Amino acid sequence: MEIKIDPRIIKSISEFNLPTKIGFGKTLAPVMISCSYKEEKWGALNLVPYEPLTLSPTAKVFHYGQEIFEGMKAYRVNGQGPYLFRPEENQKRFNLSAERMAMPTLPEELFINSVKLLTEYCAPFIPDKSGDSLYLRPFMFATEEHLGIAPSNEFKFMVVASPSTAYFSSDSLKVLIEREYVRAVDGGTGQAKTGGNYAGGLNSAIRAKNLGFSQTLWLDSKKREVVEEMSGMNIFVVMKGKLVTPSLEKTILDGVTRRCLIRLAEDMGFSIEERALSINELIEAIQSGECSEAFACGTAVIVTPIEGFGEDDGTFYKVRSKGESIWPRLREKLLALQEGREKDIYGWRHKVSLSYGEKASEGGVEV
Ligand code: COI
Repeated sequence: MEIKIDPRIIKSISEFNLPTKIGFGKTLAPVMISCSYKEEKWGALNLVPYEPLTLSPTAKVFHYGQEIFEGMKAYRVNGQGPYLFRPEENQKRFNLSAERMAMPTLPEELFINSVKLLTEYCAPFIPDKSGDSLYLRPFMFATEEHLGIAPSNEFKFMVVASPSTAYFSSDSLKVLIEREYVRAVDGGTGQAKTGGNYAGGLNSAIRAKNLGFSQTLWLDSKKREVVEEMSGMNIFVVMKGKLVTPSLEKTILDGVTRRCLIRLAEDMGFSIEERALSINELIEAIQSGECSEAFACGTAVIVTPIEGFGEDDGTFYKVRSKGESIWPRLREKLLALQEGREKDIYGWRHKVSLSYGEKASEGGVEV
């Protein structure tokens, strides 16, 4: 694998200042990764300044949405790290998404080296407050110029990085139960991390916002009875002291954070049920007080509590907590592992060596 470091990055990096208010996904690191696919081969991995792209107006991504992405983070809290967290899980899911969207898969080495290289060069800009991180966004899109409906023969793989806080600035979420639109259908692309799944949810997001909610809760497409996920995050509830999360159907994204929480909760002694959860069961459990907690989880949102669920007619089902909540314990456990504050007995944390960039540039263009 050839790695090329663009000499212009020296200027981009030296001119970059981390703002005091960073937000989520708003502050972009001054460098990025770019790699092209042509004639059935991946080319060199390039580390270049963050800059606009030049693409043909007929690039297939603009017309047929052949695009996938991942969300992952690098941590450097209190001078520890930088650490990546389970990057191989994102790499595997990226390739599953690629297969579903008729795109070439990416060799593991190319994906992992890209996120490591970018993390290393962005290390000085990784915020050091617990909960903040360098949000990494690997993505791939179709670049072939052609209006025929057929898979593209040319693609670009890129990774951009954003020093970020957690996704939500509010303390807890109000969630709209979406009874009209659906996010995913049986046999569709719900399990893939592709832009269209998110674009299709935006009209509901607008409606939710106008009604005073911050998220949409998606139900199954056939009967609108079973709880699925929330676009960009999975859901857990606590019912009669047990954690319940929807079992993974092909319409639900297999969240890395979701899987971590299941493992951590089991090891902390909580009972977990992965099963079909109907919206009626959830509402009844909230009303009877059996549901004492609900929370969202995902790379961007980490673990964020849900205040309650509502309908578009103004009905609101407020979750009433009982005793000590589970979500803060799970959130703290997860962050402690990600940020290097706790011994990692799972082998999930990967330290990025700060000399990685030097090694990587051997064989490529030296800075
Ligand atoms: C992530 O959690 O990384 C996601 O991809 C969700 C995103 C849409 C904000």
